[in-house]
Amino acid sequence: MDIKSFIANMPKAELHLHIEGTLEPEMMMSLAERNGVELPYNSVEEIRAAYEFTSLQDFLDLYYQGMSVLQTAFDFYDLTNAYLTRCFAQNVTHVEIFFDPQGHTSRGLSFETVLDGVTAALDEAERNLGITSKLIMCFLRHLSEEDAFETLEAALPHQDRIIGVGLDSSEKDHPPPKFMRVFKAAREAGFIAVAHAGEEGSAANVADAVDLLEISRIDHGNAILDDLTLTDRISAAQIPLTMCPLSNLRLCVIDDMKQHPIRRALEAGLLATINSDDPAYFGGYMSENYLAVQEALNLTHDEIRQLGRNAYLGSFMEDSQKAAALANFDAFASANSP
Ligand code: HPA
Ligand code: ZN
Repeated sequence: MDIKSFIANMPKAELHLHIEGTLEPEMMMSLAERNGVELPYNSVEEIRAAYEFTSLQDFLDLYYQGMSVLQTAFDFYDLTNAYLTRCFAQNVTHVEIFFDPQGHTSRGLSFETVLDGVTAALDEAERNLGITSKLIMCFLRHLSEEDAFETLEAALPHQDRIIGVGLDSSEKDHPPPKFMRVFKAAREAGFIAVAHAGEEGSAANVADAVDLLEISRIDHGNAILDDLTLTDRISAAQIPLTMCPLSNLRLCVIDDMKQHPIRRALEAGLLATINSDDPAYFGGYMSENYLAVQEALNLTHDEIRQLGRNAYLGSFMEDSQKAAALANFDAFASANSP
């Protein structure tokens, strides 16, 4: 099987996906109309034309503005459902989804409005499409520690649905120490911890996220490769990295896909994975991310296989589910490798 078909048909797991980042311009327009929300755009083309980012902050400004069209549980259901339909078409069999409760509660929505809509779609996709899922809520790092504690409090009755806490938004001025206490409280309450680190920030941010926030997985982690000692340490501990090639390109974390560090990450023994981050904003879902980095770096079948397998290995599936998913993946890979 040629490499492009191998990527398309390979069973895939996505571990870094912001559900609000799957809001396609078409849905943004239709929800704005349905809910009577004013947008500063008159067409889908105008929205797409605005997606020329020079930094993470540049993107975040539009991402928070886009979210404003999401008003009801039904909107969150539609959003999640559209994403999962695309997953099915791309042979994504397992997803671990982020949501940003503070992006919605700050606009007057209840935590439950968001959760009910998202989980209804996740449950339906498991029944109808066989796609399994986990849900992780992120704290917005540009907001206060107190606000994060309030969000943790709101999540406590929903631990049957939310398995973990994450940390996203502006990395540069909001490094990990600010969230040490709330992460400790979240872990003590039984949540798994993950955090965005080393995307625009330095290797030191990644080390702090690991040491101070005690995270089980690193979101992005590109900057790890700048520090040999840290690379060896993360590699030895096999802490998974959820890398996002098209996101990195569109947010100018790299200037060219040929600079993407994913092959170097594999060569260093890191448990690197490929993910889409905010696919509606960055120009591609899972297959497009695999294809972009495969083409730019001329990744081999074996490297693609390793990246695909790492995603199941680095997932938060229960052991028996993980073993079954890995067996399914390995059967595909051995039947279809050159
Ligand atoms: N980085 C930080 N915050 C985010 C991202 C990201 O890639 N996507 C959505 N919120
Ligand atoms: Zn992200």
